[in-house]
Amino acid sequence: MCTYSRVSPLAAVAVLTLMALPVLVASAQLPTYGVGRAPAAEEIAAWDLTIPPDGEGLPAGSGTVAMGKALYLERCASCHGDDGLDKKYYRLVGGRGTLATAKPVPTVGSFWQYATTLWSYMRRSKPIDEPGSFSTDQVYAVTAYLLYMNDIIGKNDVLDEKMLVRIRMLNRDGYVPDPRSDGNSSWAGAYR
Ligand code: HEC
Repeated sequence: MCTYSRVSPLAAVAVLTLMALPVLVASAQLPTYGVGRAPAAEEIAAWDLTIPPDGEGLPAGSGTVAMGKALYLERCASCHGDDGLDKKYYRLVGGRGTLATAKPVPTVGSFWQYATTLWSYMRRSKPIDEPGSFSTDQVYAVTAYLLYMNDIIGKNDVLDEKMLVRIRMLNRDGYVPDPRSDGNSSWAGAYR
């Protein structure tokens, strides 16, 4: 009944190897499918928004805590609460000293490792209903307000690209290399 039963195991291995060969060759060459086109440099730039921890690529700009507060109340408070303490979506303020307890409260102040990647996250992902629509100065301002609410910068500070890279977050040294991967990423995302 079964026609494959007559094929010797050795022959089967040989056939499978031959079948796999074009795939191996193709993947080495990266296949083309004849659709689409190469993206233009400005199209790549529009998506290439991630700022690494060292702040490389941060655009020049600035924002005050006061500007950030106005933006926050308008675009963020409905979900995170006026003072960043609303648990409905994600608490943004407080939680210091709780990470190693039975009830950790991860927030911008207690948990985030870099101010630069917070800035990057604000630029890419917020406001949640219109991600990427903030101007550079608005991103600085809203980041300033988050840092101010967490007692990391002062009320009258003006956050710009130079100050941002100098900020040392409370949990800066709290991350460990992830043993499950290549050792370069941290728990819960390398860019927090
Ligand atoms: C419609 C609801 C909503 C609005 C409005 C909103 N957020 Fe969020 N936010 C969320 C949700 C849900 C998450 C968690 C999911 C995620 O990471 O995207 C989150 C996550 C975050 C985090 C990450 C928290 C952490 O520790 O990982 C920060 C910081 C943040 N929001 C700040 C803001 C700021 C600043 C604004 C305004 C510019 C804003 N959010 C507007 C719903 C909202």
